[in-house]
Amino acid sequence: MLNVQKIREDFPILNQKIHDKPLAYLDNGSTSQKPKVVIDAITNYYNWYNSNIHRGIHTLSEKATEAYENVRKIVADFIKAPDPEEIIFTRNATEAVNLVAYAWGRKNISTGDEILLTEMEHHSNLIPWQILAKEKKAVLRFIPITQNFTLDLDKIEDLITSKTKLVAVTQMSNVLGTINPVKKIAGLAHKAKALFLIDGAQGVPHSGIDVANVNCDFLAFTAHKMLGPTGVGVLYGKKKLLEEMDPFIAGGSMILEVWQDRATWNKVPYKYEAGTPNIADVIAFGEAIKYLQNIGMENVRNHEKELTAYALKKLCETEDLTIYGPKNPELQGGIISFNFSAKGGSDSVGIDIHPHDVGTIVDQEGVAIRAGHHCCQPLMRKLGIPGTARASFYIYNTKEEIDQLTFALGKVKEVFARL
Ligand SMILES: Cc1ncc(COP(=O)(O)O)c(C=O)c1O
Repeated sequence: MLNVQKIREDFPILNQKIHDKPLAYLDNGSTSQKPKVVIDAITNYYNWYNSNIHRGIHTLSEKATEAYENVRKIVADFIKAPDPEEIIFTRNATEAVNLVAYAWGRKNISTGDEILLTEMEHHSNLIPWQILAKEKKAVLRFIPITQNFTLDLDKIEDLITSKTKLVAVTQMSNVLGTINPVKKIAGLAHKAKALFLIDGAQGVPHSGIDVANVNCDFLAFTAHKMLGPTGVGVLYGKKKLLEEMDPFIAGGSMILEVWQDRATWNKVPYKYEAGTPNIADVIAFGEAIKYLQNIGMENVRNHEKELTAYALKKLCETEDLTIYGPKNPELQGGIISFNFSAKGGSDSVGIDIHPHDVGTIVDQEGVAIRAGHHCCQPLMRKLGIPGTARASFYIYNTKEEIDQLTFALGKVKEVFARL
């Protein structure tokens, strides 16, 4: 069990009122809040050892370089990567996926090759492959979802063929909360000699990952959804693949030797970190990971399981609510998407109250949720809805905040009953 009240003391932002109501921050799928240690790490860097890394021979530069490189080790340890040199810092998960699509994809995908995705991918793990497929005349295929909002595993074996060069799957859906069986899919991909990429933007912050055990070839995730600052993402890649790939962004730091007409590349991971990186935020990300490790990822997951079970029960009791997800905390992380259903089909898209209206009204009750298509327009189209309202939890959330949400949803119904 987590000592949530103690944890909350580390997050000054949570202790405030919004519209005169205590803030219930249930928008962690978008971005998480940051504990004081993370905020302090940023100010500490700028106050005491701000300087560029890898280049200087002065004390401050050495200190900054050491702190930055130490986070590579912290990240590797957190995801159980065999070698810290397999960790590349990017701006976010989106950039990490783009790096693979560009640097691996342009070299390895050709006409007629297939890339297998799922129907629940975030645009970040879709658009880079669309662009690559268009350029290379490759084909995108999609693992469908079942009525239960899980991946249709029976279809996977037919969809992975000898033409499949890459399978790219989200560890956890940012809309449905569905946790995907990534280890099993990795096995199927490798059996067909395809590579396997995981979009861990939602999965890594809430249940961690063991890349060696899952045996993925690439993993992309993002610091700001796991207590870290914005502007930092991670690409993990198997060393051999990273060494074979061409650079993504070119310029300073990623080179070894340069002539006027040519250059040679720095070793991995520096080959993929051109220009001055986001030094302060990478260092602060290290503090975020240490904070999570201190709590223990199993405890994080168990706390969210308990909150999800409680929220599902409360939301299922709320009349007229449709929930889009497995409705089972064993298969679902701390994300719940819902809409007020149409009564008698008053609306061709099957919902009565637009999720933006839901989000605006619950905000008046101090509850922060997300509303919209959540960067998953193809999934929305499949579900036949314009968007959902989405509540998403993290280590500092409480059952009282879920009660606040259900109370606020009652207000939504009151407002619309009055119209
Ligand atoms: C599943 C998933 N993948 C990728 C991303 C992109 O993360 P970022 O915006 O940090 O690149 C998100 C962000 O919401 C996400 O939920």
